[in-house]
Amino acid sequence: MEITITKAKELKPKPADESKLGFGQIFTDHMFNMDYNPAKGWHNPRIEPYKPFEMDPATMVLHYGQAIFEGLKAYRTEKGNIQLFRPKENIHRSNSSSRLLCIPEIDERFALDALKQLITVEKDWVPGAPGTSLYIRPTIIATDVFLGVKASDTYRFFIILSPVGAYYPEGFNPVKIWVTTRHVRAVRGGLGEAKTPGNYAASLYAGQQAHKKGYTQVLWLDGVEQRYVEEVGAMNIFFVIDGEVITPALNGSILPGITRNSVIALAKLWNIPCTERRVAIQEIIDAQKEGRKVEIFGSGTAAVISPVGTVRFGDEEVTIGDNKVGPLTERFYKELTDIQYGRAEDPMGWTEPVL
Ligand SMILES: Cc1ncc(COP(=O)(O)O)c(C=O)c1O
Repeated sequence: MEITITKAKELKPKPADESKLGFGQIFTDHMFNMDYNPAKGWHNPRIEPYKPFEMDPATMVLHYGQAIFEGLKAYRTEKGNIQLFRPKENIHRSNSSSRLLCIPEIDERFALDALKQLITVEKDWVPGAPGTSLYIRPTIIATDVFLGVKASDTYRFFIILSPVGAYYPEGFNPVKIWVTTRHVRAVRGGLGEAKTPGNYAASLYAGQQAHKKGYTQVLWLDGVEQRYVEEVGAMNIFFVIDGEVITPALNGSILPGITRNSVIALAKLWNIPCTERRVAIQEIIDAQKEGRKVEIFGSGTAAVISPVGTVRFGDEEVTIGDNKVGPLTERFYKELTDIQYGRAEDPMGWTEPVL
């Protein structure tokens, strides 16, 4: 399929100060759009000026949340090139999400090509200041105009781009997390392993409660027994106990993070023992109290690695690793960001050049 390109007549001014980009607030001049109907399949792929959608108020996505999305980044290297980090994995995961949401799958090679063409059109929007990147948000929404719970017949696939600032402008410091035993994000057999809006809607109330209590993120336990750790905020979670890396096994209610997969692969490459299994929160609290060497960190595209310094579980607040960034947490963060920005070798072939 040929992608039609229509350039914007007027371009927006680019942000003058890349230290003030923030996250998800600025959008570029163009977007990618493509439509689906049962007769034509996915058709009419086009790059065109970024503009609002006009939607009938009865459009199905607005009522039943039938949608999926992805989040990945393009990085400007020190040489000035632009590269993506494991984009094929994001596109592949979007099709897994689509299957669970009864959305027709997209051709993965075509989607990667569309993304590269869009970034090529928007190359001047990829920021270059340290820690900045171009956040990419591919999304598919149900577009039938109909009230009634069923899978839509028609869909829109779009990609928008947003230059984003450094995640740690004040330094790479540990955060405080709150373990909720009152709320669940997802349950096995539900949609937890899909990247779909409902999971994020389900997380808002507990997130607000955590903030009110002075914690940055919620640590989610399993939805059945409320004992086993699943994720932290919108990130996967890792523990290090006496040099062993441990992360909850994928069980259907955890999003299979691409950063998670990369941390596991690096641990294996470095011959560090790494286990995917069920982890009870009490096991971690006990390990810290027994004086073992504990590190906790979240992993995800936005922050890459997010160190945890305090865990609140019930009435107890436990300090992890003297509230300092642990050595393995630091090592994973440095290696991943060095690969993403082209400062280190890429032994796994994770980066995908755009320009
Ligand atoms: C719920 C949830 N878990 C985990 C992750 C981490 O996934 P990734 O490493 O692919 O960004 C994300 C972010 O995308 C997320 O939204």
